[in-house]
Amino acid sequence: MKKKSSGKWRMVLFFVLLCGVVIQFIRPRLDNPAVSGDLQAPPEVKRILKRACYDCHSNETKLAWFDRLEPAYWLVAQDVREGRKVLNFSLWDSLTKDQQKGKLFEAFNKITFKEMPLKQYRLLHAGATITGDEQAVIRDYLSTLVVPVKYPDTTRSKAAGEQYEKWIRTGMAAREVAPAPNGIAFIPDYKDWVAISATERFDNGTLRAILANDQALKAIREGHVNPWPDGAAFAKIAWDQSADSAGIIRPGVFKQVEFMIKDSRKYADADGWGWARWVKGAQLAPYGKDALFVTECMNCHKPMQDRDFVFTSPLDLSAKSDRAGDGREGEGGDAHAKVRDIYNREASLRDSSVFNPLAWKVITSFVDKNHHTMSILYGNDIAVLAARLNPGPGYPAGSVLSLVTWSRKEDRNWYGGSIPAAIQSIEKVTCEPEMLSGSRFSNGGLAKGVFASYESYAGSPLKKTDGQDSVVILKRIADLVSRRASVLP
Ligand code: HEC
Ligand code: HEC
Repeated sequence: MKKKSSGKWRMVLFFVLLCGVVIQFIRPRLDNPAVSGDLQAPPEVKRILKRACYDCHSNETKLAWFDRLEPAYWLVAQDVREGRKVLNFSLWDSLTKDQQKGKLFEAFNKITFKEMPLKQYRLLHAGATITGDEQAVIRDYLSTLVVPVKYPDTTRSKAAGEQYEKWIRTGMAAREVAPAPNGIAFIPDYKDWVAISATERFDNGTLRAILANDQALKAIREGHVNPWPDGAAFAKIAWDQSADSAGIIRPGVFKQVEFMIKDSRKYADADGWGWARWVKGAQLAPYGKDALFVTECMNCHKPMQDRDFVFTSPLDLSAKSDRAGDGREGEGGDAHAKVRDIYNREASLRDSSVFNPLAWKVITSFVDKNHHTMSILYGNDIAVLAARLNPGPGYPAGSVLSLVTWSRKEDRNWYGGSIPAAIQSIEKVTCEPEMLSGSRFSNGGLAKGVFASYESYAGSPLKKTDGQDSVVILKRIADLVSRRASVLP
């Protein structure tokens, strides 16, 4: 009896071993195709990437013996296949210079967020972890890739001027824009959404504005920003940087606009977001060969998974108090902190004695390299409409403009970007018909018979500036009313 049973067990054991051996022969194919044009980078950078990334992102995969055992091999082979598909240092030549730079910045950001190398790979491959010193080596190399902005850049500003003229002439007309390959339709109303941040990206020489729709604004006001509620949507607009000789960088040629639209059920397999992008400037051509383009969006946004895949830290548009101490209902402890940390509180308006233009519409934005500031010019509806129909007779009575200027800080969520830090000043120009005077100033940026009054706040906390010289005031009004609207097709 006993003998019979142990014999049975021996059979089972044998069978299991046999399977273990047989499975070693059922292997997905994984070979190393030719290296057509390897990554060009300084040896100290390349050494790091070769060690930590090349197993999955090159045609020089060198698997360890334990990677070769099934079932591990099956998983490794899959990682290598997928890794090569999105980034292959052995086919580096097939990318344009800009694409190469883009991939390297993305790679660096993935490393700092410990997204890459993949966790399961790091666990087994001790050498795959990239130290702080090594990160610095890569970062220093990246900083050499940044093409400094030219002051002034006449070619760029000419192209920007031409695009602007065309937009002013035709831009307000309704027109057909083809949907994105995943079926998402273009949202022409995005231009009237509210700015929740702006970024200057030195990795790719663009200025960006991030706008939010009403549902997203409501969520911001109510503190429901992680996760974002269904219906919330963001638009991100990118313009080329166009610099003048004084070091002011304005939005130049409009390059693209892209959207994230939250619907946790409809877009369940895309992290809960509908992704869409329109490119080729004012042509607004849908981006992506097919619906798979969203994996590119999702891959790069993945390090933000703890923030519902959103990079932007929104201005707290209703902030009249510090969200740290305002004890919102129903959110205790960790949950509260998780939401609070989403906001860019430093850059929000905290002082209730100052009017708050942050929820107005955007006319344009710019960056001052010399003073390390970034600014957004806001307007009320009358002003925005006038700015977008310009060059016309100038701002009509009833227009109100406000210029908010922030100092800048590095974006914690993306090496290569800077975002607003503390507010340095808020200026306001109110355009009135002469009769309502008190308002004394007039110039070419205003419609005939229209006069402007000016007020400004500066310092920390913000304080109204009194007794300003009228020459200074005139100059400030001229500056605000003369700024061309950013192209938003
Ligand atoms: C074990 C395999 C593996 C290793 C090692 C690895 N990756 Fe990846 N990588 C992947 C896979 C799989 C993807 C696609 C899915 C994803 O993004 O998670 C990917 C995606 C990426 C992407 C996104 C590319 C795009 O355009 O979508 C970047 C950038 C990246 N890896 C950089 C790196 C860097 C840098 C290293 C080394 C520090 C590294 N990876 C190491 C497997 C790997
Ligand atoms: C190489 C990385 C990368 C890729 C690829 C990428 N994004 Fe982003 N995205 C960012 C960064 C970084 C930000 C933060 C704003 C900034 O600095 O430009 C951002 C911000 C956004 C925002 C504003 C909301 C937010 O998350 O901050 C939208 C909308 C957006 N991206 C849409 C898309 C869409 C659609 C795609 C794919 C077609 C895409 N992105 C692909 C890096 C990327």
